[in-house]
Amino acid sequence: MKVSFVEPSRLNAGNVAVMVADGRVLSPSAQTLDKQTKGALKRAINASRFTGKKGQLLSLMAPAGTKADRITLVGIGKASALDALSAEAMGGALLADANGAGQKTLTVAIDTVPGVKLELAALAACVALGGKLRSYRFDKYRTKEKREAKPTVATLSIAVKGASAAQRAYNGGKAADAVFFARDLVSEPANVIYPVSLAAKCKELTALDVKVEILGVAAMTKLGMGAILGVGQGSARESQMVIMSWNGGPKDQKPVGFIGKGVCFDTGGISIKPAGGMEDMKWDMGGSAAVIGAMHLLAARKAKVNVVGVVGLVENMPSGTAQRPGDVVTTMSGQTVEVINTDAEGRLVLADAIWYCQKKYNPQCLVDLATLTGAIIISLGHEQAGLFANDDAFADKVAAAGKAVGDNLWRMPLGEAYDRDINSDIADMKNVGSGRGAGSITAAQFIKRFVIGNTPWAHLDIAGTAWTNKDGGSTPKGATAFGVRLLDRLVADNYEAK
Ligand code: BES
Ligand code: MN
Ligand code: ZN
Repeated sequence: MKVSFVEPSRLNAGNVAVMVADGRVLSPSAQTLDKQTKGALKRAINASRFTGKKGQLLSLMAPAGTKADRITLVGIGKASALDALSAEAMGGALLADANGAGQKTLTVAIDTVPGVKLELAALAACVALGGKLRSYRFDKYRTKEKREAKPTVATLSIAVKGASAAQRAYNGGKAADAVFFARDLVSEPANVIYPVSLAAKCKELTALDVKVEILGVAAMTKLGMGAILGVGQGSARESQMVIMSWNGGPKDQKPVGFIGKGVCFDTGGISIKPAGGMEDMKWDMGGSAAVIGAMHLLAARKAKVNVVGVVGLVENMPSGTAQRPGDVVTTMSGQTVEVINTDAEGRLVLADAIWYCQKKYNPQCLVDLATLTGAIIISLGHEQAGLFANDDAFADKVAAAGKAVGDNLWRMPLGEAYDRDINSDIADMKNVGSGRGAGSITAAQFIKRFVIGNTPWAHLDIAGTAWTNKDGGSTPKGATAFGVRLLDRLVADNYEAK
């Protein structure tokens, strides 16, 4: 779907949407259309439940007095409360509505509604981004879908005074490109995206001037990465570690470090998972997709910052060569791990990736993202991801970045007693806690043992948010790309030279 910004004079055709604030307050463009149609808009409002509440939609077909085929009123709620995220959701809802109605175009009139604080250009760009993000569809394997079932909107136009300023704020939809890149990676099945092919997708970022280095099993063996190698040893697919560097910042600036869990498929290994729902485990590389997508976005917009992204890519399989429960592996850090449960593999992958990142790049701070535990879904459902951190100020920055882009995080605790729970009788630690409780926290404690010194570190457990089963706002059902925009925003707000 194409996105364009036009001056508002061209409102008089096709499928048009106009804003209405809570209490039936028509925007200027809505008023104009109401006059042209001799009051059809107001009559439609009065004949319905539409009051302009946030998210409400009301459509009129072929109203007389205008050449517009369809006019949709969209409620923005209380004008003063209209923010970037609700503008995105508005764009998403309008796009979905237009597709549902079989419209070929959608023109959204963005104009000055009294009380709205968001600048017109920013508001227009947010609506455009929301629409664009909602238009995502992973349908390359659907060869027989009927035409009428496919989305119809080919162009989303935003009609706004000062269209070029809005266009600049939209920045060519670079955020959407990166999100789509990540969503594609997560949506692809595991017979298409496996460690070597995912590493090849990372390599594509060289086109954006990202430096990409790939370590195979031989290189990882030399480095002593026994943890990630143990996870991958049962698979016919070779494990990979990919290091992506974007150096847009000052030479002496320590990089920001991003680490991603890239388990391309998680069967559980010898501690095998039940069959029901196992297909979901193709998403177990969602953390790595977030890191890859964030690198994509930072490089595409030439962020003035140094960032290094490290993703550990493996397939967790049961086989004659697979790791056994009870095996002891030596991580790159030298610390040993008793692998009690081969299904607690993500933390093993992260352990070596995070250690390598610190030893090689001395990052100023670290964020790791991982679809790490089913337990975080029990705690937070699919609404928020778990945030664990060793530094309150850093945790606040990460949470604020998430809130700003709608990747919501809820801070979870860490503590000595949880840490003690992963002590092993025969090695430095075991890869699961002793009981059934606090599974996300003991997992976080495990990763924390691989953070060197006081480096600010945040761990995002995105097991419940990497994928969604329902359409909503700017996110259609499927892969969410949770984390891509969060990481970008974290950098923009805190680490980028202005
Ligand atoms: N990839 C899973 C976590 C997961 C579960 C993600 C459900 C998304 C949806 C992870 O590797 C895993 O299997 N974790 C185990 C840990 C347990 C063995 C301690 C879990 O959560 O059951
Ligand atoms: Mn697992
Ligand atoms: Zn996993």
